[in-house]
Amino acid sequence: MDTEQICAGRTVIVTGAGRGIGRAHALAFAAAGAKVVVNDLGSALDGAATGETPAEQVVAEIEALGGSAVANGDDVADWQGGQRLIQQAIDTFGGLDVLVNNAGFVRDRMLVNLGEDEWDAVIRVHLKGHFVTMRHAIEYWRGESKAGRPVDARIINTSSGAGLQGSVGQGNYGAAKAGIAGLTLTASAEFGRYGVTVNSIAPAARTRMTETVFADTMARPEDGFDAMAPENISPLVVWLGSAQSAAVTGRMFEVEGGKVALADGWRHGVAVDRGARWSPAELGPVVADLIAKGMPPEPVYGA
Ligand SMILES: NC(=O)c1ccc[n+]([C@@H]2O[C@H](COP(=O)([O-])OP(=O)(O)OC[C@H]3O[C@@H](n4cnc5c(N)ncnc54)[C@H](O)[C@@H]3O)[C@@H](O)[C@H]2O)c1
Repeated sequence: MDTEQICAGRTVIVTGAGRGIGRAHALAFAAAGAKVVVNDLGSALDGAATGETPAEQVVAEIEALGGSAVANGDDVADWQGGQRLIQQAIDTFGGLDVLVNNAGFVRDRMLVNLGEDEWDAVIRVHLKGHFVTMRHAIEYWRGESKAGRPVDARIINTSSGAGLQGSVGQGNYGAAKAGIAGLTLTASAEFGRYGVTVNSIAPAARTRMTETVFADTMARPEDGFDAMAPENISPLVVWLGSAQSAAVTGRMFEVEGGKVALADGWRHGVAVDRGARWSPAELGPVVADLIAKGMPPEPVYGA
């Protein structure tokens, strides 16, 4: 176990923690002294049921290392499922300090071919899957706060470059991840009064979700540092989950390998205001001038 147990005594839920980045978070939180609820319903990459139980396997790994963990197999986007997940943390470990929203799957397709079911399923698992767990967790924390018990809690959401910059072939996923970025801002503004911070990460790591995207980075470098290992994402998430991050809220961090970056979100840019309504035909040169003066957009992934 880690000697720097910056989350000692804290109870942490990590959703989608049976595999990939979520599994790395669960193990890293346990190593930092936290008691972990390992949520995962064991779905395939496209969200289909598999009958697999990866959450139980991660719990066994944590216990083998001397840590405390319990498995949860609920669907994070199901209203009652999310409620059971939060309640399980409280019933098992006596409370909840950190919620890491990470679960999700992809159904990639160009927008021209994207079906209604593919849209609904991906928006549901990511965007609703973040809202449902946050909603039940904040209800618990508000109750604690109103009862006069100290709350020093954290929510860490998982967005993506696909949401922040756009990604060809991922219109459904990118929209959900942009929604999570927006939800993080509103939640951080609303939850501060209860002692809860809300931040988000946009990670990049090699998992089954990105095996093909990062195919050219599959080879392990000679020096032993695997820049695309999911374990590289977790130290920042564990720090954000600790008491040390109390002053940080409403932020988006891009994380990959040894790099941590603070993302600059939508902000008010160059403007012109003549104090009266424009006619459409007047606006060509006005928009051209704004574009000339403003920041160019980031390139869309895959464009
Ligand atoms: N891998 C990357 O480079 C990358 C980049 C940007 C964002 N992300 C995001 O990081 C998160 C983790 O992705 P990953 O790459 O580790 O993928 P992954 O497929 O390895 O892990 C996702 C896990 O979520 C679980 N899951 C899916 N739907 C669920 C549900 N409804 N309830 C509970 N569990 C569910 C799956 O069973 C799976 O174990 C996702 O939100 C993903 O969109 C990943």
